[in-house]
Amino acid sequence: MAIWNLGSINADMVYTMPHLPTAGETLAATELDQFLGGKGANMSVAAARAGSLAHHIGAVGPDGKWAVDRLTEYGVDTRHIAQIDVPTGHAIIAVDQQGENQIILYSGANQKIDQNSLKQALTQANAGDILVMQNETNLQVDAARMARGLGLKVCYAAAPFDEVAVQAVLPYLDFLILNQVEAAQLERSTGKTPDALGVSDVIMTLGARGARHIDGNTGVIHDIPALPVTAVDTTGAGDTFTGYILSGLDRGLPMVNAMAQANRAAALMVTRHGTADVIPDLKDVLDARF
Ligand code: RIB
Ligand code: NA
Repeated sequence: MAIWNLGSINADMVYTMPHLPTAGETLAATELDQFLGGKGANMSVAAARAGSLAHHIGAVGPDGKWAVDRLTEYGVDTRHIAQIDVPTGHAIIAVDQQGENQIILYSGANQKIDQNSLKQALTQANAGDILVMQNETNLQVDAARMARGLGLKVCYAAAPFDEVAVQAVLPYLDFLILNQVEAAQLERSTGKTPDALGVSDVIMTLGARGARHIDGNTGVIHDIPALPVTAVDTTGAGDTFTGYILSGLDRGLPMVNAMAQANRAAALMVTRHGTADVIPDLKDVLDARF
């Protein structure tokens, strides 16, 4: 089986800061590093490092060859990434001393993915494969509808959160991944609790309290505690969590085991400075002591 990812690809400019800048403040960074990033690319790399076949569907600009090369080097199938005449997406990321971040996103090519290349890619998928999406590209609803029709399982990580976007894809989802603030917001706008959204599996990240699985068919809730780590840089931890869950399912793990592995991967990721380039592989995840 395989994972198909309609996902963003960004150049991440990561600034280490004494604190996150406030309105009107000029603040010098103590360090600048560049990484491959984008919530989509991070998920593809996480799935690949966890041992799955990840096909990335997306777009970069004339300045994005390095990003495609790097994804290829990391074991991701890049044949469905188009090069178009719009600049590659980038993110300006400030990281403070506690590892918290603030992200300015420039979407660029990520919002210009062509419908035909999406179609062409998905026709090569097999029933039982998984489609994953985030909210940093265009075409989510088209992709979800088409994937459903082809017998794929559809997963949406509601990040960055947009209430309208999540409601539009909701009818097509098997898996929904979101944090507790987003879940509460979705509950207010739909009037439905997460178990009543019609999605088979809802996964909520609970920050310091870990993660929760809600079985949409039975209503059964399963909580996984957070692992104790000292945060260096939380950027990309959520994407790593999602990529590892999907890879776990793809490798045949039951949901709660896939989540436990994803929880370890995300915890390890929080201790590392950077994004896609530093996502841990399965061996590191299994060997890690917390
Ligand atoms: O979730 C982290 C990601 O968000 C970064 O890699 C950045 O590119 C933004 O998309
Ligand atoms: Na990190």
